[in-house]
Amino acid sequence: MTTQMKHTFGLIGFPLEHSWSPSYFQNRFRELGLKTTDYQLFSIKSLDNFSQFLATTPNLRGLNVTIPYKQSILTYLDTIDPAAREIGAVNTITIERSGDDRELTGYNTDADGFALSADFSKHTNALVLGTGGASKAVTWALQKMGISFTLVSRSRYKNRAISYSDVNEAVMESHTLIINTTPVGMFPNTDDFPSLPYRCLTSQHLLYDLVYNPEITAFMKQGMTYGASVQSGLSMLHHQAELALKLFLDEG
Ligand SMILES: NC(=O)c1ccc[n+]([C@@H]2O[C@H](COP(=O)([O-])OP(=O)(O)OC[C@H]3O[C@@H](n4cnc5c(N)ncnc54)[C@H](OP(=O)(O)O)[C@@H]3O)[C@@H](O)[C@H]2O)c1
Repeated sequence: MTTQMKHTFGLIGFPLEHSWSPSYFQNRFRELGLKTTDYQLFSIKSLDNFSQFLATTPNLRGLNVTIPYKQSILTYLDTIDPAAREIGAVNTITIERSGDDRELTGYNTDADGFALSADFSKHTNALVLGTGGASKAVTWALQKMGISFTLVSRSRYKNRAISYSDVNEAVMESHTLIINTTPVGMFPNTDDFPSLPYRCLTSQHLLYDLVYNPEITAFMKQGMTYGASVQSGLSMLHHQAELALKLFLDEG
């Protein structure tokens, strides 16, 4: 009888309270018959001891990365996929090991996860709310899809953004795709939604919320009230996780 080596994957971030990842990946490993593979949460207060963490977790073959480390993790990697480098954020790491040597490669699956999550073919102009990490992945994907975008930020002119008070009827009319990449409306603040003139929406508009908890957000409810199509962040969440799984199993 041969003993298979155990492989561990996991999520690093801080704090990690309501993470969806362990049950998702554990179910997928079970479905794929990977009995010796597990998935753990690694709530890490700082990346200062990241090397030591890797050394003391010898079965670790891959990591998902979440807030607040998607950008600061870049300096700890040996190789960064060109797309992740352009976006400036990594949400998936593969770890190849040979004896005590390790090779860490960083990827960003949020951008492709977003591109795969909906049909954007009717849209040529997007309004992107927020200028954080998720916004960078989304705007990278929009550029690849040939969709122009305008950023909306609480700080006017940050990354050449306009402010929420600049979003008037003409702006709403000319941007049929409106994407919320801010955490506004996320559990437990489920009654909150970005401040926009929703009355200007039409049936041509798609309101896309990256927030996935709750599945129907207050932002999406505003869209539905005014006859727009809506999309939750759940599909992107699944797509980015499946892309990460593929990287883990191909290279982990
Ligand atoms: N569905 C998915 O697969 C998926 C993937 C990644 C992220 N997400 C979700 O996307 C959201 C953002 O994630 P992130 O990593 O980009 O976070 P982040 O880096 O913290 O950035 C969020 C941005 O939203 C804006 N913002 C923050 N608080 C705000 C507030 N109270 N009011 C208005 N705007 C505010 C800020 O932009 P300004 O300062 O320019 O206003 C900030 O840069 C989270 O809810 C996350 O769960 C979903």
